Formats: sequence, C-alpha cells, structure tokens
Amino acid sequence: MRLRGSGLFLTGLSLPGTPPTGRRQPDHSLVVHAPAKLNLFLEVLGKRDDGFHELETLMVAVSLYDTLIFSFKEEAPEEVSLRCFDACFRQSSVGSALRQNATEGATGFTEVPDGRDNLAVRAAELLRSKTGCRQGIHIDLYKRIPAEAGLAGGSSDAAAVLFALNRIWQLGLSRDELQSFASEIGSDVSFFLNPQSIAICRGRGEIIEPLSLPNRLHFVIAKPPSGLSTADVFRHCRARDSPCGVSSLVDSLKRGDLRTAGQRLMNSLQSPAEELNSDIGRLKANFASINHIGHLMSGSGTAYFGVCRHRREARKAAARLRSGTSSDQVFVVANPP
Ligand code: C5P
Repeated sequence: MRLRGSGLFLTGLSLPGTPPTGRRQPDHSLVVHAPAKLNLFLEVLGKRDDGFHELETLMVAVSLYDTLIFSFKEEAPEEVSLRCFDACFRQSSVGSALRQNATEGATGFTEVPDGRDNLAVRAAELLRSKTGCRQGIHIDLYKRIPAEAGLAGGSSDAAAVLFALNRIWQLGLSRDELQSFASEIGSDVSFFLNPQSIAICRGRGEIIEPLSLPNRLHFVIAKPPSGLSTADVFRHCRARDSPCGVSSLVDSLKRGDLRTAGQRLMNSLQSPAEELNSDIGRLKANFASINHIGHLMSGSGTAYFGVCRHRREARKAAARLRSGTSSDQVFVVANPP
C-alpha cells in the first residue's frame, strides 16, 4: 500500500504483541519503506540570522529504501527503542525475510549500535512530548541509504516514524501538524511527508511546493566510501551574486524535455564539497565519461548521480561505474510513480 507521503510506503497494518490498550493484535508487523532523495537543483540564497541558509531546491524521492519495522515490546510498554541493522541486501526483500535473516545472523547484516541521537528515535520522542502520549514502540531499522551522502536517509526515517506513529498511537494529527514537527527535527524531513515524490523546497528546505511530472525519472547513483558533514559543507558555501531560479528546470521536466533539463541541473554546494573531498571530483569525471543526460552531486554530498533516459540506460551506466572501482556503492533508482 503506497502512502500519500513522498514515496513512503507501508506493507503491513497491524502490530505484533499486545499493545498497551490490552487489545491483542494479529501477528503482523507494520513495515514502512522510507526512500532516499536527490536534489536536481539547489541554490543557496543567503545566510539567515538563525545560522541556517535560505534555499531553493528541487527534491525528488527515489527507490532506494530504508525499512522500518514497528512492534510493541510487552516488557517495556512505555519505552521507545531502536535496533539498527546495515542491510546489504537486495531491495526487493520484505520485512519478515529481513528479520528472519538478521536473527539467524546471515551474512550481509551487521548490527550497529542504536542511539538516542538517531533521528528516528528523536521523531518518536518529539511526538510523545508534543502530544503527551505515554505509549512506547520498538523499531527495527534496516539501513540501505548510505549516511553522509546528501541522500537524507536519516530524515526520511524520521518522517516514516512520524507518519507511522501517528497511526499506531492513534494521535489523529493532520499532515500540517506532522510537517511542523518534522521541521523541528531537520530541514529535509518535511519533504518526505508531502503528497508527491517531487517538490520545490524553500526556506531551510521545509517549505514545500509539491509538483507532478508526466514521466518517471531514472537515475544512477554512486556513493564513495568517504562522506561529508552537511554542516561543514554549508560552512564553506557562499551565496552567488546572481542566483538562478529553479523554474526553467521545472518547465523542461514538465514538458518531458530531459535533454534541456540535464543542462539545468545545478547545486551550489558542489564546489565547496569538491574542495573538501577529492572523491567528488573523481566521480564528476567518471560521470562525464558516461553517456547520459546530466550529472550532479546530491545535497551536501558525497553521493553523485546521473539522469538517464530509461532504466536500461541507468543499468548500463551502473555497470560502467562498477567496472571502474570496487569501492563505490552504485544504485539504479527511479522516482516512485
Ligand atoms: O536541518 P539539518 O539538521 O539537516 O541541518 C544540518 C546542518 O546543515 C545545520 O546545522 C546547518 O549547519 C546546515 N544547514 C544550513 N542551512 C540549511 C540546512 C542545513 O546551514 N538550509
């Protein structure tokens, strides 16, 4: 079942165990798949008094997912807990298979420590403090979206938690209320709660103008082993004297004119990121030698992507990228329909 929330989708509706209400639930899990995003355009318009930067950016959700499985813990009904797994796994895997393999210690899983700093836990705790809800939850988080990549994996997980817990805890919050909580967690979180998989985002990134496009977009993404901190990259960026607007890119995407769109991709965080991390320049050169429409760094990096005419072209580009290096992670993705 696809949720109206920027590519978030859900594959089970009831929870295992006994909820605090005492009602026994059938033995199913609530499973939410939380997508990554790419920035096809990102202009930094200036620094604000609160230390953040004013942005105009075009974000698109793509089919690279973290998976969150929600359940009640009978022994700790008022506790929020998280276990995090590195899911080096095919994307088609579903929750039950993931859990079974994880507990069996199958290769491909590395359990990583859970932490109160994780944005997913912060989202759950924020909902409790805003609403006075005392219920608990246990979340198993299977990570596929690389960290420090400019792909907003942590933000998407937080949005998935807000969306899921609003249902599970029956809080009855509106989308506007959830989006206002989302912006307190991080600048990118609100995007994942909007009804479309592509949107212009302004302000810090939390003011969302959803768009719809006539065609699906296909991409190849490469993530080098090194990462970049978002705060570092913003610290080194400078607003340009004559910033350009996103509208000409949006117009060409709406016309389905990918060739023109490819020439209008722009990210003003890319040049500070290139100065901070040599992998970005390497990826730029690799992508320039591959036949596709345009290429760019996503967000604050270090993930780099190419826009492709169709999935076949994206797969060919991925094969070329993989043959050049064994250290980069390479993904073929599209925006959800
Ligand atoms: O909002 P988020 O926690 O994702 O931002 C991480 C850091 O990136 C912020 O602390 C800030 O330094 C920088 N940032 C910024 N302007 C934005 C978004 C993020 O300066 N619009």
